[in-house]
Amino acid sequence: MNITTTKALANAHGIKVLVYGQAGAGKTCLCATTPDHARTIILSAEAGLLSIIGADIAVIEIKSIQDLMNAYHWLATDPQGQSYDWICLDSVSEMGEVILSAAKKTVKDPRQAYGEMQEKMEDMIRAFRDLPRNVYFTAKLESYQDDTGVVRYQPMLPGKKLGQALPYFFDEVFFLRVEKNADGESVRYLQTTPDIKYHAKDRSGRLSEREVANLAHIQQKILG
Ligand SMILES: Nc1ncnc2c1ncn2[C@@H]1O[C@H](COP(=O)(O)OP(=O)(O)O)[C@@H](O)[C@H]1O
Ligand SMILES: [Mg+2]
Repeated sequence: MNITTTKALANAHGIKVLVYGQAGAGKTCLCATTPDHARTIILSAEAGLLSIIGADIAVIEIKSIQDLMNAYHWLATDPQGQSYDWICLDSVSEMGEVILSAAKKTVKDPRQAYGEMQEKMEDMIRAFRDLPRNVYFTAKLESYQDDTGVVRYQPMLPGKKLGQALPYFFDEVFFLRVEKNADGESVRYLQTTPDIKYHAKDRSGRLSEREVANLAHIQQKILG
């Protein structure tokens, strides 16, 4: 009988984090808070890498679904690709747009393109999530009205359904908050529990309601 432990499994599997927030909240900056920049890689689908220009982190630019598939294959199978222990996808919102516009070119009915995009995105999110490494996904923020007319917020993906479904793929979903403190300075933190407007969760049960916006810190707290 081959017996392992939950702790060993968690360590081998890595942590899977989804962070969503407004433009400028600091989602891209979080990519540069991993413990070791030499073992971190960013898959970037946005033009917003300027905020971490000082950090020397490997980047793969994602401009097509083929780029994304090639990156996945390389990270999963190539010895150099396997050497990264933090993989950052910045952002899945933009990757969804890339996949949607490709789908629109291949089908006549736009509704069909949304269906195809949703299927491909779900496959893609699962595939990256299940790489035995730490994976960090960023998403933009969108508002929506729930059935009772209350305005709430969720990660943004093309198509209504996918944005709502996205949190279910992850054990760790955080809303990146920026608030002003008494001195008028911006303070950033990760909200790890839900409130009436924002969805969030921490399956590990090891995090506080507010956590420092730092992936090394989150990793340390969850995996010990
Ligand atoms: N932890 C932080 N401390 C101080 N400033 C930050 C921090 N995170 C982000 N910023 C500021 O916010 C700007 C936008 O951050 P960025 O990560 O690009 O946002 P996002 O990717 O969420 O749109 C950065 O250029 C930086 O000036
Ligand atoms: Mg960004």
